[in-house]
Order: sequence, then structure tokens, then C-alpha cells
Amino acid sequence: MDKHVYELLNDQINKEFYSAYLYMSFADYYEEEGLSGFANWYMIQAAEERDHALIFRKYLLDNSCPIKLLAIDQPDKTFASHLEPLEASLEHEKYVTSLINDIYGAAHDVKDYRTMKFLDWFIEEQLEEEANAEDMITKMKLFGGDAKALYDLDKDFAARAYSVPTPLAAK
Ligand code: FEO
Repeated sequence: MDKHVYELLNDQINKEFYSAYLYMSFADYYEEEGLSGFANWYMIQAAEERDHALIFRKYLLDNSCPIKLLAIDQPDKTFASHLEPLEASLEHEKYVTSLINDIYGAAHDVKDYRTMKFLDWFIEEQLEEEANAEDMITKMKLFGGDAKALYDLDKDFAARAYSVPTPLAAK
């Protein structure tokens, strides 16, 4: 595998674990605020991000590439409103989309069609991740100012359940 493509893929393991850490910190915030449904949503999001890291790990191992685990940054955001983590989530997902696009571009440059095909799943996933984040922002703006509506929204988010992503379930 091309060295630059390899390094980007290996770095992405770290970036996905950071995403898991970041979303766990959002879950911690919502727990402290008494919104356990939002906390549930973000803990499942954190599990999905860990899974994303494991998908990159598996791809590198399948290609006989070594894994170099790097230090995970500390999430240090503080929030002044229930809306802020949702907006931070959208911003973060847009950043992750740019990272996936960068790896895709690097793979394209060296005609690494296998890695491009591998990344297709993530390209679709990022569309869903950004759409989910935008949807939560819209709902919070619509309903977050009303205590009963916020209670119902929290119950909706409490219903989110974990499922193994396709690339990990396949084998
Ligand atoms: Fe791993 Fe939220 O993208």
C-alpha cells in the first residue's frame, strides 16, 4: 500500500476513537443535565465511532499493514445550552467527511481502487451522520424551548438502539 494512503488510514483509526471520546463527553454533559435520552443517543454514537475505528483497523490488517495506535486527544468542550453539543456534532461530522474525502483523494492519486471501494461505505455513512446531526439541531430549535416537548424529544432519543455496522457484521 502507498505510504501516504497507509498513514492516512492509520490516522483515521485515531480520529474515529477521538470521535467516540468526543461523543461520550456529550453524553456526559446530557446526563448531568438530566437528559438521559440524549445521553443514550450519544453513547450509541460513541459505540458507532469505535466501530468505525475497528473497520479501518480491520482493513489495514486484511492488507497486511501494521497498526500504530496513537494517543487520543482529550475532548475539552464546555456547553452553555442544550443546542451547543448538537451544533458541535455537525461541525465535527463535516470535519470527518473532509478527512474521508482526503483519504479517497490520496487513494485516487495512486490508483488504489481497492481503498476507494473500501471508503464508499464511509462516504455514505458521512452523509447519514451529517443528516442526523442537522435533524437533531432542527428538532432542538423547534422543541427545545418547551419543557414537555423537550421531555418527549428526550424519550425519542432514548429509543435509539445499537446495531453492528455492516462492514464489521460481514465476517
Ligand atoms: Fe465516524 Fe461520525 O463518523
